[in-house]
Amino acid sequence: MLHPVVLSGGSGTRLWPLSRQNQPKQFLSLIGDRSLYQETILRANGLPDVQPPVTVCSQLHRFMVGEQLQAIGVTSGGIVLEPVARNTAPAIALAALHVLASDPDATLLVMPADHLIEDEAAFRIAVAHALELARQDWLVAFGITPDYAETGYGYILRGEPLGEGGFRIERFVEKPDLATAERYLAEGSYAWNSGMFLFRAQRYLDELGRHAPAILEAARQAWATAASDLDFIRIDEAAFAASPDDSIDYAVMEKTDRAAVVPVSCGWSDIGSWSSLWSVAQHDADGNRHEGDVISVDTTGSLVRASERRLVATIGVDDLVIIDTPDAVLVARKDRVQDVKQVVDRLKAAG
Ligand code: GDD
Ligand code: MG
Repeated sequence: MLHPVVLSGGSGTRLWPLSRQNQPKQFLSLIGDRSLYQETILRANGLPDVQPPVTVCSQLHRFMVGEQLQAIGVTSGGIVLEPVARNTAPAIALAALHVLASDPDATLLVMPADHLIEDEAAFRIAVAHALELARQDWLVAFGITPDYAETGYGYILRGEPLGEGGFRIERFVEKPDLATAERYLAEGSYAWNSGMFLFRAQRYLDELGRHAPAILEAARQAWATAASDLDFIRIDEAAFAASPDDSIDYAVMEKTDRAAVVPVSCGWSDIGSWSSLWSVAQHDADGNRHEGDVISVDTTGSLVRASERRLVATIGVDDLVIIDTPDAVLVARKDRVQDVKQVVDRLKAAG
């Protein structure tokens, strides 16, 4: 059976000052009324013949996750609570162990909680293809046609066709440097890794054991000592903290020879930064996106978000991001918003 797994443990620092430790971006209503997490859960739940979605998140966010699920009326397949973050490879291992406990032949559809997909019909078709490949024991990634040299993504070189619209992965390169990303883009034969994966849960654990045994071992130990109450599965801190911190991309996908890719064109975007939010949101005729009480005069290409407390006005500025919140204001050039991380780092250093 197919079990969606929504990874919701990221901290979303590049969407500061709206995204905060107690309320990271995936739980905010950034576009429309629902959060990205809720949109992801609904997208997963809408797939044919799926089991209730499993969430893996920080224990800090357990009440928010519970409330957000309840608000959309979706039955949970379990909420696995991480006491510390160890990145996606161990998080997915916990989800695999969780579903295998009740379904020894489980297949997982891993979905990050911070993506938008505009064309759900195209996504569903890709999932159906990936399911066929997973049955043949492939670890399937979903490939997106790249449109610029993004260094924050994984790159997939496709190899021989496997049928079902899929290909063997010839090479998987996580987060290449800029020169390499530019070369891949120019070569035209690479796809971006979307960050969603589909595989048999047992196959994932086997590959993890082969390529990152310390992660598998720590996840198993942590699982063996987990306690469940209602929908929550509490993971023991000492056991889980022993896991190396690594992503599925580095720990498994770059190394395994069982990786396949299904290319998909489904209006996918990763809401990673304020500029990506600006790109996917609707603009007015001047290319501005306003949220809340905003007046702009001779302003173009800007994302301006007022807090509930006050009005924000702009005059004669272009390509800015202005985010007002009750206790912090961000003003940045739209092409510099990746550096919001630097602000957050300084705040952390200052305690
Ligand atoms: N539960 C849990 N625990 N979730 C986590 C953790 C963790 O420790 N760390 C990250 N996540 C969640 C994030 O919330 C996000 O939804 C997802 O896992 C992916 O993590 P990111 O930190 O956003 O990864 P990335 O954007 O750097 O890279 C991944 O996604 C790209 C596409 O958006 C990779 O898969 C890349 O190859 C890919 O191109
Ligand atoms: Mg991401």
